[in-house]
Amino acid sequence: MRHLMNPLDFSVEELDKLFDLANNIEANPAKYAHACEGKKLATCFYEPSTRTRLSFEAAMLNLGGQVLGFSDAASSSASKGESVSDTIRIISCYADICAMRHPKEGAPMVAAERSGIPVINAGDGGHQHPTQTLTDLLTIRSLKGRLGGFTVGLCGDLKFGRTVHSLINALIRYDDIHFIFISPPELKVPDYITDMLTERGIIYREVIRLEDCMPDLDLLYMTRVQRERFFNEEDYVRLKDFYILDKAKLSDAKSDMLILHPLPRVNEISIEVDDDPRAVYFKQAQYGVYVRMALILTLLGIDV
Ligand code: CP
Repeated sequence: MRHLMNPLDFSVEELDKLFDLANNIEANPAKYAHACEGKKLATCFYEPSTRTRLSFEAAMLNLGGQVLGFSDAASSSASKGESVSDTIRIISCYADICAMRHPKEGAPMVAAERSGIPVINAGDGGHQHPTQTLTDLLTIRSLKGRLGGFTVGLCGDLKFGRTVHSLINALIRYDDIHFIFISPPELKVPDYITDMLTERGIIYREVIRLEDCMPDLDLLYMTRVQRERFFNEEDYVRLKDFYILDKAKLSDAKSDMLILHPLPRVNEISIEVDDDPRAVYFKQAQYGVYVRMALILTLLGIDV
């Protein structure tokens, strides 16, 4: 039995196969419409979500399976003190695979140790968000045709943004990746990440102003400031509108740069950017369904 806790749980070759499958699902949805008949996905979400939970549910429904679960810890027996370990043992009696989001880092890993079914980490605190990373990689590979040879700008809350941490870890396995980290000093990417990049000889630089690096970027990954991870509201209010990407700021950008965002967006991308052909964040959400379909099939060992 296999779980997904971290994007590095799959080798580069396994990811290639997963992305080929996702592209095949996109091109031939009818071929996969009954692949999971009789199977059930449990979504156990102890933290709010729109995309991750609903795209997992859409993925399983698209495969002909069924879904059950909870979207709020308060409506589960966690509110009575039940542990994640006990909960997953119960869920293992009801479903064939589980996607779990939890505010505590490592909680899905604790669940995986006690689980009788594959567990997918759907986001754990500020730590990892592997299926968002699969979504990001599939989007880049599908729209650019490759995953190496990019200067990648990551902008916004690089301290608390788990999607950023997961994406950096995943991209460093490809050739010729350079990073530009764009954040206010308070929201810098953690030292353990920059130390790891230095050890591996991967080129990165840190800047505060988006305008100082825009012409260099092949990919711009925008993120929101993670209000739920701040210790006080005052700091959040001070930093929340630090970056607002608008048409004027894009005037220096490459004509084929991609603008990605895991969403939800708050203020960091002006809606006037949505019509720019480089803005692919809504397409990215669609790729999230295909890659989660491919992941469910892979973890359940279903060959179509
Ligand atoms: N991208 C993402 O994880 O969105 P949700 O929080 O809505 O699931």
